[in-house]
Amino acid sequence: MTTFESITRTDIGEPAESWDRPAATTATAFEYDVAIVGLGYVGLPTALAYHGADSRVLALDTSERRLAVIRSHEADLLEIDHARLLRALDHPGFVLSTDPGELRKAAAVIVCVPTPVDEHLIPDLSILRAACAMVVDHAVAGQVLMLTSTSYVGCTDDLLVKPLMERGYTVGTDVFVAFSAERIDPGNAAFDHDEVPRVVGGATAQCEEEASKLLLRYVTKVHRVRSLAAAEMTKLLENTFRAVNIALANEFADICKALDLNIADVVDAASTKPYGYMPFLPGPGVGGHCIPCDPHYLLWQLRKQRVAAPMITQAMVEIAARPNRVVDRAQEVLSGAGSGMLGTRVLVVGIAYKPDVADLRESPALEILDGLIERGATVAFFDEHFDSVRLPSGILLTGVTDPAAFEAELVVLHTRHADAPLGWIAPHQLVLDTTYRGTDVPQRVIL
Ligand SMILES: NC(=O)c1ccc[n+]([C@@H]2O[C@H](COP(=O)([O-])OP(=O)(O)OC[C@H]3O[C@@H](n4cnc5c(N)ncnc54)[C@H](O)[C@@H]3O)[C@@H](O)[C@H]2O)c1
Repeated sequence: MTTFESITRTDIGEPAESWDRPAATTATAFEYDVAIVGLGYVGLPTALAYHGADSRVLALDTSERRLAVIRSHEADLLEIDHARLLRALDHPGFVLSTDPGELRKAAAVIVCVPTPVDEHLIPDLSILRAACAMVVDHAVAGQVLMLTSTSYVGCTDDLLVKPLMERGYTVGTDVFVAFSAERIDPGNAAFDHDEVPRVVGGATAQCEEEASKLLLRYVTKVHRVRSLAAAEMTKLLENTFRAVNIALANEFADICKALDLNIADVVDAASTKPYGYMPFLPGPGVGGHCIPCDPHYLLWQLRKQRVAAPMITQAMVEIAARPNRVVDRAQEVLSGAGSGMLGTRVLVVGIAYKPDVADLRESPALEILDGLIERGATVAFFDEHFDSVRLPSGILLTGVTDPAAFEAELVVLHTRHADAPLGWIAPHQLVLDTTYRGTDVPQRVIL
């Protein structure tokens, strides 16, 4: 098999039985075609996509609470996935479970568990290590094991290949190991999950082959790379590229402000260039489980190699500092209006890390709320996706349901959900627009 090539579902034909699969574990002996480990923003849509493609799915999560949320249709999903879930929950080919012992009955296992960073921005691999150890413990001959969680280069080798070899398996003959990062964009219906090409790297050529077949059950295109490490690095490049460009967009926003220019107009104008430019918009910081975390996996591993990456480091510093910049600017806006922060009523609108998801992970809004409280403001938030929120400081804040009734002296626009109109903002209210896109609020000042 040549390397660095793309193949599509139609290229692949029927699975080739080019290796000696032990009789006791032939494909027909498996009860499930695929097991998905971790049913979060990535794993649940993946499980549903496989089920939609007629695979028998074991959907495994260690959290009973998460399974209850899924069973009661309260999971934060796109419409298409809600419809798939309705069908899946009524179907014997879709099994929800917390029992890792079931993994032995699956022909393939896909790991989709979180890879966060701790408060010192150090990768927290504990969840991934535990999930991979569980998969290795229950591995049986003939299985394809695939990691999809973003991590450092060499992670699949460390957490799956080596432990499997220690258990006596020959990887590439008895079991097949691959890495293929998820590229799903929760809350974004513009790109069909199944149509987004997947990059895959295997521990051996046969692993890559088996993993490609597994992916092509529901995605239309896979791009193969030479190794597990190349596939892992591809994901780190994608997300680091985004982080660096967001940091650059933030810097340009500050430059435009100093030169009395509108950054949104400038970005729109630059976007008319059909090549060599890709628009990134500034904002109050970045959230979610990818951009604020993934580049730190790379920086962390580079420290061991004594390799410096000053541009990435600086971008991550800028990104981390952005929420505090919002708090400083809020204070500046209030001072300009002749008031201080102490006792002032400040309402943060939209606290999810991005529009149209109910996801608070790493959301800059949390740090902004804490910063405003620390400086003495009386804060509240309005976001119909959340009743209350626990801030990093430990404070539990309950959201307002009637934003006008809060009578804020300053409104901070943080995230604008599609279904959240701003008609309640009174003309006399100060508005700090951290989205740079609130042109329908004439009195706004930008970050
Ligand atoms: N959310 C995104 O936008 C996105 C996009 C692309 C890639 N990713 C990557 O995908 C991975 C998963 O992210 P996510 O957002 O889906 O996470 P998540 O926090 O939404 O969900 C993870 C789920 O895994 C479960 N879990 C934890 N340990 C487990 C174990 N040992 N066995 C079974 N289940 C377990 C948790 O209970 C939880 O339900 C991360 O590495 C992330 O970087 C995320």
